[in-house]
Amino acid sequence: MKQKKVRPSKTRIEERISEISTFNLTPGQGTTRPTFSEPYIAASKYLFDIMEGLGLETGVTCHGNMIATWEGENNQPGILLGSHIDSVPHGGNYDGVTGVIAAIEAVQCLKKEGFKPLKPVHIIVFAEEEGTTFGHMLVGSKASLGQITQKKLASLKNKEGKSYLECAEKFQKIFGKPLFDYIRPEMTRAMLELHVEQSVVLEEKNFQVGIVTEIAGAQEYIISIKGLANHAGATPMKFRLDAVAGLGEAIVGIEKTITKHKSPLGVATVGSVSCFPGAANIIAGEASFSLDIRDVKKENLEILERNMLSKIGKIMDKRNLSLEINRTSSSIPIVLDEGIRSLLEEVAEDNNIPVLKMPSGAVHDSAEIARFIPTGMIFVPSKNGRSHCSEEYTNAEDITQGCTILKETIRKLSLDQIFK
Ligand code: GLV
Ligand code: MN
Ligand code: MN
Repeated sequence: MKQKKVRPSKTRIEERISEISTFNLTPGQGTTRPTFSEPYIAASKYLFDIMEGLGLETGVTCHGNMIATWEGENNQPGILLGSHIDSVPHGGNYDGVTGVIAAIEAVQCLKKEGFKPLKPVHIIVFAEEEGTTFGHMLVGSKASLGQITQKKLASLKNKEGKSYLECAEKFQKIFGKPLFDYIRPEMTRAMLELHVEQSVVLEEKNFQVGIVTEIAGAQEYIISIKGLANHAGATPMKFRLDAVAGLGEAIVGIEKTITKHKSPLGVATVGSVSCFPGAANIIAGEASFSLDIRDVKKENLEILERNMLSKIGKIMDKRNLSLEINRTSSSIPIVLDEGIRSLLEEVAEDNNIPVLKMPSGAVHDSAEIARFIPTGMIFVPSKNGRSHCSEEYTNAEDITQGCTILKETIRKLSLDQIFK
């Protein structure tokens, strides 16, 4: 007898996202869940309990990624499902968490149906996707592919001065080791990630689900300016080497450069600024700011990067200020696998769910994985396009629709005989 399909549970998805939101350093002021922090560990325990309850084999890799494996009847290559549970400071409850909860939900429904995958299915929660705890984006996914050395992991520090490596080791001690540490292309058939869209496109076009075609690349920098500290009252304007004035002009220059950029999907953001010593009556001798620039086309991103840095350089030269540029993160734009995209579209059609094909301006762990492994991403709408803020919200019914596509795609991939 054919087993009846089990629909993902909207209530369970909603309850689990809400439960995870309680693991938060800043209740009432958005969600702040730094990688490996106390609320992060508590959220991980909550997730591991659920996944162990489903009979999955769990553990934490040497890079701090959580893995839960549903063994297949045969062996490799497996299907990877994943996202992240770290948050930006004062962020929302849906970024990353939605994908993790949807992956668990998909597995839970398939298990309830009595489905037996031929290939193993691994749920992976990548550490430090946001880059706001250790200053470098996509660390867990890059490290899982061997793209970041242990030495680099030891050099990345959080606000308390603790290194990524030491925190990952402690995190592993709490939860134990998983079946594998590294994601190897030969052992992985595909990666699937469901994520909130973080923009307005799905809502505006009235779609519940999007299929991602390509993911933007992002370059992040810390740019430091050195001038000369001096007295705010006694120093005539023409004798000043004012680092803050340089910073202000640089930010205006960045806005001008992006408006001239030829690609509409190019963006630039200065999200953090500081100066030293920082007092009303001192001309600041030092100032620094973050710069995040993105585009979905590699050539366009390279042009943007060149134009931005040259503009900032010219402004500092004109003001006789010195400049130090440190690139803190880098990810390249990537087109997602056509085979997986077609499969997602086919599954959507079979389930009568209209989907919109669209690029992602936000960066995801999937962008790193897609460099080595066929990867697909499913988007669900973000209310009013808000994200990385406390107002972030996605309707659970939309997540359920995206999760149905995820679940049915897992079924197809895990029975797929092409790769033995
Ligand atoms: C990750 O959320 C990003 O900054 O795109
Ligand atoms: Mn995310
Ligand atoms: Mn994010």
